[in-house]
Amino acid sequence: MKINIVQSASGKANASALFFVKKSVQFSDVLSENAEKQVESVLNGMEDGPFEDLEYLEIDNQPTIFVDAAKERGLSALDHLRMAAYRLAKKASKRQIPMVSIMLADAAPEQFKSILHGLHYADYKFDAYKSKQKDAFQVTFEIVAGDQSAVFKKIAEDVAVEHKAVVLAKNLINTCSSDLTPAEFVENANTIAKYTPGLSIKVRNMKQLEKEGFMGLVTVGKGSSHEPFMITLSYDGTKTVRGTKTKAANARSSSDHLVLVGKGLTFDTGGLCLKPPKSMPEMISDMSGAATVLAAIQAIATLELPIKVSAVCCLAENAIGNKSVLPGDIFKAKNGKTVMVDNTDAEGRLVLSDGLAEAGLIGATHIVDIATLTGAMVRALGYAVAGFFSNDDDLGLKVINCGEACCEKFWSMPLEEEYADALKGNFADLKNTGSDAGAIAAALFLQEFVPENTAWAHWDIAGTAFVSKAWKYTEFGATGFGVQTLIELAREMSN
Ligand code: BES
Ligand code: ZN
Ligand code: ZN
Repeated sequence: MKINIVQSASGKANASALFFVKKSVQFSDVLSENAEKQVESVLNGMEDGPFEDLEYLEIDNQPTIFVDAAKERGLSALDHLRMAAYRLAKKASKRQIPMVSIMLADAAPEQFKSILHGLHYADYKFDAYKSKQKDAFQVTFEIVAGDQSAVFKKIAEDVAVEHKAVVLAKNLINTCSSDLTPAEFVENANTIAKYTPGLSIKVRNMKQLEKEGFMGLVTVGKGSSHEPFMITLSYDGTKTVRGTKTKAANARSSSDHLVLVGKGLTFDTGGLCLKPPKSMPEMISDMSGAATVLAAIQAIATLELPIKVSAVCCLAENAIGNKSVLPGDIFKAKNGKTVMVDNTDAEGRLVLSDGLAEAGLIGATHIVDIATLTGAMVRALGYAVAGFFSNDDDLGLKVINCGEACCEKFWSMPLEEEYADALKGNFADLKNTGSDAGAIAAALFLQEFVPENTAWAHWDIAGTAFVSKAWKYTEFGATGFGVQTLIELAREMSN
């Protein structure tokens, strides 16, 4: 796919696209009077004839694709636009139309952004494991932007950076677990750090983790032949980027340090508390949190956002081996609290205890942890909404608003103190399972490891990270959920 932003139509397009909602056409400023009349009559006749989404009609002697921008239920107006653009791009590629023009001269910047996102989503495919890789037909989208073309060009650059990050996260998540081991994930992160100016990386292996007392990762990871790792990536947009102090960095006075912590179980068998076969294949996506924070910080650094951000990836494989943690085993976490492993399948919260400790050590003022943490969250909110917990109302509100701007839905869940006692251990301070409210119990467990005086939000993306049937702009597999909202949050916090 190619995007060309132009002030006025080149006349080279093979078709143009018109978005409509019910009977009214969107972004129609550039239509000729004659075309306007024809479009009006098409849309008025919609109910009588067999008129379908993506219908192809001649308007003013130009083949025109009519795209329904209100087709799905439950989506915001911006998400409708993403979906409409996604369907349009799929259709144009299938029909092998070389160039499609979209008249967006009177679109608001965020509407244009949504349309771009939809086009990018349609361009994604994961065929690394197919014996034959088919080249998709390359469509050029000519965006007619009128006097907004300079603004739109900048937006298109930013969206391309964001989508590169979304694709990175999706590729990592979709890769088989035998190919993406913790060590292989580290390799990927090293490459990203090397090629992203301003991004530095620190990696701890099993020996270092053990020496420094990051025992959550050690406890979970020791049962596997693939050793666990912790990665800490750092970017400071308040100082220098590419060797020079940015204007934005100079203007900035806030001392916020946002630390993103990601669960990175490259596979989760459940350990000795083995998962049933049906729920196991999806566990290739149990490193979605780590992939999301890696992708987000790559984009944040590339966009040179004027804020200090770090990302901590907690990588391990939860496997069965002769060194696997046994139910009933007790370990001492980095913050000194002792934990009895009641259920080896509740491993995410154990590795995250180390990620939260690391966030404290590097001076986080704000922490967002992101994890495919509980089946209970999948049952509560399904695949379309992520539940989150926060100890800070301001951060919680930002999560919801930034999510909305990115068409990612977040629902606030309670850190219900009444369930906290259920996490008390008999011999140890804590155990890793609690009350029946599984997602809340997991969040309350994590809260025990949040450094003092730190604003914290925990996103449980178990339902939204990976889909086994088509959902919005994902056919099967990783959705990339969360990458855009994390970038938007960094953007919002840096304002
Ligand atoms: N990785 C799973 C959670 C999960 C479930 C992610 C479904 C994606 C889809 C997590 O490690 C887990 O197994 N959690 C257990 C915890 C329980 C044993 C307390 C769960 O939710 O069943
Ligand atoms: Zn598990
Ligand atoms: Zn897990």
